[in-house]
Amino acid sequence: MSQNQPDPKVKLTVARKGPLRIANPDGLITIEWNDGEAVTPPNDKMFALCRCGASSNQPFCDGAHTKIGFEAAEEATGQTEE
Ligand code: FES
Repeated sequence: MSQNQPDPKVKLTVARKGPLRIANPDGLITIEWNDGEAVTPPNDKMFALCRCGASSNQPFCDGAHTKIGFEAAEEATGQTEE
């Protein structure tokens, strides 16, 4: 991040072989299923959404991606968006 930009209120980080990590220090993000049911993250200031499908605590990551050797499509194909 540039030194001229303020610290973001929310930051999303995509792990290349794991979850989508969300830093939510001000609690600005709420999560719900697409049917409107609210979802409460284990820690509302910092949490991770599962991208591999193997978590037993969906939609959150429980670390199962490390056991199944998850590789995101962009890693498995060697293609990345520019
Ligand atoms: S990304 Fe971690 S359990 Fe799916």
